[in-house]
Amino acid sequence: MLQDIACEVRGHLGNGKVASYIPELKKVPKTKFGMAVHTADGVEVSVGDAAEPFSIQSISKLLTLILALCRGGDEVWERVGKEPSGTPFNFLAQLELEKGVPRNPFINAGALVVTDYLRQKVGAVAPVVRDYARVLTGSDGIDVNTQVAMAEFAHAHKNLAIAHLLRTYRTIHSDPSTLVREYCNQCALEVSCSQLARLFLPLAAGGFSRILGETVMTERIVRRVNALLMTSGVYDSVGSFAYRVGLPAKSGVGGGIVAIAPGKCSIAVWSPGLDRSGNSLVGTLALELFAQRTKLSVLG
Ligand code: DON
Repeated sequence: MLQDIACEVRGHLGNGKVASYIPELKKVPKTKFGMAVHTADGVEVSVGDAAEPFSIQSISKLLTLILALCRGGDEVWERVGKEPSGTPFNFLAQLELEKGVPRNPFINAGALVVTDYLRQKVGAVAPVVRDYARVLTGSDGIDVNTQVAMAEFAHAHKNLAIAHLLRTYRTIHSDPSTLVREYCNQCALEVSCSQLARLFLPLAAGGFSRILGETVMTERIVRRVNALLMTSGVYDSVGSFAYRVGLPAKSGVGGGIVAIAPGKCSIAVWSPGLDRSGNSLVGTLALELFAQRTKLSVLG
């Protein structure tokens, strides 16, 4: 099935725009396509460039949220909401109108709050996120690409503005510049589709990690994270994404999308051409075809 999907999407490769506002990401060819599926009962399949590491960008927000919930329980919800934003991932005005409380943990403002919260708990966040990804995939090679992180930080004026506004409202405690640097590091983690599907399989398996042979997050966290992915994971495209795909998912401007079929499997796709909301164009199409064929989504 994955091979059929790869054939069907081939004609669309090259469409969309790569995230040129992070200069290093401009260099990645739009013709890349990879897809991997890991099932809760241990089957791993993949197609195309599924073994090639890419910049996970906003998919890292899912890792920081899981870490924050695992380490601090519900505390983080005192500073960030659970509603879809209806606005682009780096929108500033909504934050001012809503007195410095971000709508959800997946827009940039919300992710900065989660990273700030984690900094208070664990210190430097990017190495903790990297090590969590290494342990949950069993791959020691996973790392942060510091060139990508530095290139993003050099152009991070909008995220700095968001962090300063958050600091004004005391939603964050870190120095804005230090926090945005940390956030750029976590976003610059490089992971392949096969590793991503493995990394997030616990969200499809009631919190159980097959790699570790143990439960790594409670069922309560799994259910809640999947709900947030369904309502906020792909920003101002959640409606049309639910209409087409019908699975909880998180995207990143590196062109990756991770989707979860609860109780069944985790799916990771990668193709760098993005739609207007910053979600992979071909990745969304591949997930739509997968959901249609497997009937694993809420769409039946
Ligand atoms: O903060 C940014 O703009 C990037 N580091 C991450 C944005 C992102 O991946 C949005 N997702 N589709």
